Amino acid sequence: MKNIKNHNKTIVITGAGSGLGRELAQKFYDAGNFNVCLIGRDKKKLEETAEAFDSERCLCLPCDIRNYEAVKKTFKKISRTYKQIDILINNAGIFEMLPIKKTNQKVWENIMKTNTFGTFYSTKEALVIMDKSKSKKRIINILSIITERNLPFNSAYAASKYAIKGMMNSLREELVGKNIYISNISPGIIDTGMWNKKNKTKGQSPKEIAEIIYHISTQETTYAKDISLLPIN
Ligand SMILES: NC(=O)c1ccc[n+]([C@@H]2O[C@H](COP(=O)([O-])OP(=O)(O)OC[C@H]3O[C@@H](n4cnc5c(N)ncnc54)[C@H](OP(=O)(O)O)[C@@H]3O)[C@@H](O)[C@H]2O)c1
Repeated sequence: MKNIKNHNKTIVITGAGSGLGRELAQKFYDAGNFNVCLIGRDKKKLEETAEAFDSERCLCLPCDIRNYEAVKKTFKKISRTYKQIDILINNAGIFEMLPIKKTNQKVWENIMKTNTFGTFYSTKEALVIMDKSKSKKRIINILSIITERNLPFNSAYAASKYAIKGMMNSLREELVGKNIYISNISPGIIDTGMWNKKNKTKGQSPKEIAEIIYHISTQETTYAKDISLLPIN
């Protein structure tokens, strides 16, 4: 049983076992007033993210966001532990840079199931919990610059991120009056495993992006609707 501090806020971060998700977890944890709930498939990676975190303020939740039943169970556990969700960051995602000829059904389905369905499932379950309180809540979506610039060999990835953007733009209107604010963040190239696996060019610092997201997610009277974060070069 955790000894919960009632004044703490609770943030849920998907894809928190690496890259941007790990930096976001660190940033919000370091702020001192957040309980951080870390979602990802690989338990070991989540535990590495949380290695130096106080267990009272942290939950590692191994979960494949493509599986709706698993997502439901995970959010029920968050609700039982911390009662409320103040911020959900839909960060988990996968990327494949492929020409359409090589984008087979399996690739397409996996990208859509992870990026789009996974975001839908997490958001739907977070909203069940968010709906219970009148305080200010936020949903932050990590999209990509692909939703603003047309880039070749990215049809599946682009479709998945455009779908999230469409879903969130509609949901934002649906939630008017509920004190829930939705931000779409579109980074360019982030220096994480996702990009470095196959490319040599250096990208944006995930730490820097986490700083910016923290800043825009914690302002008292302002929320960011759509933000692009582009590399300086
Ligand atoms: N890197 C870039 O250049 C770039 C640019 C623009 C936008 N983005 C976006 O930024 C976000 C974070 O990516 P990143 O760059 O930090 O890459 P990353 O290090 O590969 O992080 C992606 C995370 O998503 C998790 N994940 C993947 N499939 C999952 C599933 N089915 N269920 C639960 N978790 C899953 C992974 O953990 P497990 O494998 O343990 O599940 C991993 O921790 C993504 O949405 C990506 O599209 C990245």
